[in-house]
Amino acid sequence: MSPYITVIGTGYLGATHAACMAELGFRVLGVDVDQQKLAKLAAGELPFYEPELAELVARHVASGRLSFTDSYEHAAEVGDVHFLCVGTPQQPNTDGADLSYLNAAADRLAPGLQRPCLVVGKSTVPVGTADALTRRIQAAAPAGTGVEVAWNPEFLREGYAVADTLAPDRLVFGVQSPGGERALRDVYASLLAEGTPVVTTDVRTAELIKASANSFLATKISFINAIAELCEAAGADVVKLAEALRYDPRIGDRFLSPGVGFGGGCLPKDIRALLARANELGVGSALRFLDDADRTNLRARRRVVDLARQECGGSFAGRRVGVLGAAFKPNSDDIRDSPALAVAAAIQAAGAEIAVYDPQANDNARKHFPTMDIALSAVDAARGAHVLLHLTEWPEFAGADPAEFAAVAAERRIVDGRNTLDPARWQAAGWRFRAPGRPQLD
Ligand code: UGA
Repeated sequence: MSPYITVIGTGYLGATHAACMAELGFRVLGVDVDQQKLAKLAAGELPFYEPELAELVARHVASGRLSFTDSYEHAAEVGDVHFLCVGTPQQPNTDGADLSYLNAAADRLAPGLQRPCLVVGKSTVPVGTADALTRRIQAAAPAGTGVEVAWNPEFLREGYAVADTLAPDRLVFGVQSPGGERALRDVYASLLAEGTPVVTTDVRTAELIKASANSFLATKISFINAIAELCEAAGADVVKLAEALRYDPRIGDRFLSPGVGFGGGCLPKDIRALLARANELGVGSALRFLDDADRTNLRARRRVVDLARQECGGSFAGRRVGVLGAAFKPNSDDIRDSPALAVAAAIQAAGAEIAVYDPQANDNARKHFPTMDIALSAVDAARGAHVLLHLTEWPEFAGADPAEFAAVAAERRIVDGRNTLDPARWQAAGWRFRAPGRPQLD
């Protein structure tokens, strides 16, 4: 009989995983402590924006395959495979990961585990977490060592969460016994049959695979942003430079877009957590470049602020700045550590009036930045603006007509913090066009 799956934590990761497991044919129980979130999901709605996911949740709530509960006792009783999908945010006062949600989930689940089962971590964690969780869970579970802990990191990107889960680049099974591997192979049988590559390894390596993947991606972005600084100093063009680098398959054509840098709930905290863990293990000096990647990334935000200040004539006092974008990236309403809002907040703190518009993240921006003017359209954000900033590369902005913005702006000056707008189109409509890492283009 196919296993009954529980998914503990129903945020971006958990809600996606739960719905996708139902799509693969399993009975799935989503578990959370947040009643509001549960009520929405149980009604077939999403508490956040993610393309394709709402339809999938609604379909499988309706089919009866997907249900939700706040009862860990019930989850422990019915589940054969329990996926842990709770957040592991940065700790408030250190760079390390906060494992309190993970430990709390384990502590609530374990006492109800009466029979052998598999507990599978999906969250990004410091290496060694699975070992510690194994001891913690086995000590509290009536089934004792019959409970195996495995690590099966998730590589999904927000905005493509469903596609990334149902057609992943690869699967990683960090297991402690052949039984653990068999159980994971059963869960992912249909993806394996389609030829998805799988790397089976120990739990520590699995934990490090995820942390290394995100750290590599972050470093790649910071590399091109560091080169962007050099281009600016030398009067060269980083966009052309990146275009040429991308043709080299050894370098690859993705994650090489220069601009305001990376944000979100993953890359920034994951590089800090990996370095913090490396320090604890006495090998911090080997990973010191991650600190540079972090600094380069934060500098990328400040450099966009500086460009905007220059365009304001050296000071933000009494100026109005329109900001296109609030989400940390397009196709998401997530504003966690969003470069767009970090830049907007810094400019507001320096004395400018700010108007922000985002196609999906306006509500979140309003909630977390109540003093910012949140505009109802891109053109509204530009109304009366002395400078317009493009900070999240939604297709809506690339396709917009620069003449419409010109008609309402106080001055025609734009800073493209993502390097994805077409300078020629904006210049043709009379705009002065600036972008990080590029020579002044007029
Ligand atoms: C990232 C990883 O890409 C996923 O593989 C991973 O599963 C996920 O973290 C996670 O750990 O859960 P995500 O945070 O959704 O996914 O977003 P990305 O697409 O990686 O973008 C991260 C940031 O980098 C965004 O702010 C984006 O605008 C920025 N970015 C990306 C650049 O500044 N330049 C680029 O060339 C690419």
